[in-house]
This record gives sequence, C-alpha cells and structure tokens, in this order.
Amino acid sequence: MSLDHHTKIELALATAAKGKFIVFDGPDGAGKSTQRDVCDQALRDAGVDVVTCRDPGGTTIGDRIRAVLLDYDLSTMDVTCETLLFMASRAQLVHEVIAPAIDAGKTVLCDRFITSTCAYQGAAGFDPKRVIELANLAVGLHWPDLTIIFDVDADEGFERIGRKPHHAGKNRQKDTGTSSLFEGSQPDAMEARSLDFHRRVRKKFLEVHDYYPTPVVTVDARGPIEEIHKHTVEAIIHALG
Ligand code: TYD
Repeated sequence: MSLDHHTKIELALATAAKGKFIVFDGPDGAGKSTQRDVCDQALRDAGVDVVTCRDPGGTTIGDRIRAVLLDYDLSTMDVTCETLLFMASRAQLVHEVIAPAIDAGKTVLCDRFITSTCAYQGAAGFDPKRVIELANLAVGLHWPDLTIIFDVDADEGFERIGRKPHHAGKNRQKDTGTSSLFEGSQPDAMEARSLDFHRRVRKKFLEVHDYYPTPVVTVDARGPIEEIHKHTVEAIIHALG
C-alpha cells in the first residue's frame, strides 16, 4: 500500500519531532503562537505526545515572575534585572515542565525561549552573548533541539497585532524599549514601545544563529498560515529528521 504525500509528510514530521524540544519565536506579530498551535495539532494527529508551554510564565512561580515583569515600574527596571527575571522564570519552566516532559519522551513546543532574551534584552542593550552565559545557568543541558524564528518586519508585525507604533520621541529619556514589554501592562504600554526598538529586535533575532549553541532556522512569516506551516514542517524535518 503506498502512502499519499500528506501522510508521508505527517509521518516524517512525527518521526523528526518525537521527544524533541522545539521553540517557536520571533518578533511581535510574527504569528509564532498560531504556528505552534497548528504544529501541535499536526503532531497530535500523528499520534505524538506533545506538551506546549510559553515563556515567560507557564508555572505558578513563573506566572508570578511574569506579573512582576508585567507590573514593574516601567521606567526604572534595569535591563540586567529584567534579563535575570526572564531567566528565573525560565529556570522554573525547565525544572517543572520541560525537563520532565523530555525525560518522559514527550515533544515540547514552547512559545518563546532564550532567543527572545537575545533579541529583546539585546535590543535594549544587554550583550546577547552574556544572555547565553546566563542561559547555561538557567536551563543547564535543556537547550532546545531546534528554534524556529518566524520573521516579520516591525512595521508589518505592528500592523498585524493592531498596535500603534511610536517612533522614538523626544519625550523619551532613553529608547531602551524596556518600558513596555507586555500588552495590558499599562494603558499606553505598547504605544510607548518605539518602532525603532522593534526594528532592532528583529535584527537581533536574525543574528541569533551566528552565536546560538543549538540550531536556529528562520521561516518567512509572511503569507497564509498553511503556507507558513508547510515551511515550518519542512524546517523541522530538515533539521531533526
Ligand atoms: P506575551 O504577552 O507573552 O506576548 P507574545 O504573544 O508576543 O509572546 O509577552 C511577551 C513579551 O515579552 C513580548 O513582547 C516579548 C517579551 N520577552 C522579552 O522581552 N524577553 C524574553 O526573554 C521573553 C521570553 C519575552
């Protein structure tokens, strides 16, 4: 009996992703969460045991750290403090969710991970290579088998999530972009984040594969969901198959 093309791809995806830790990352508005969910469904349909999570958060303690990041005094948090809080939340996520799942032979699909710290805190002035050092401490041996960066330019990303971009204005004391990381953290939080900051974030994402210790691939996030899913599946099979 010959298998049809779709079934063959589904089997190849399941074989490649089984027991692996895969991260979906990228600038705001790239559609990474949608792609993670579509991929989750495809793997479940193929009989793979999947655990999904999101960073920051994903645990009780991590959600409290996330709340600190959400609620912080936006103008006073130092970028090192911010980086360490993201790492602290991540350490708990690895300990409680990711490591046990991988040890049990499950596939983990995580929305954001260390690459986000490289890009966002990197864009805010923190040396991305030092992010790697801190991440070694936070996650130990539990680095992703594959990180997929969904690439979209800042203008399009803003448009997709209906956020109004502000260019760095003269009222801002310093354009670190750290003043508004989360939607809903303050009424004008997202508006306060400059388009210039997001452009730097995107650039930092595109540079990650130069120094990241485990494989990183970039998928063009423009186009229909199905098309991007197809490229995502190809990337997973190519990198892990
Ligand atoms: P979230 O509400 O989870 O949004 P998204 O759907 O974009 O993932 O907010 C996460 C925000 O935190 C997002 O703007 C990226 C930022 N972030 C960092 O700055 N550093 C990090 O290490 C991580 C994981 C996220």
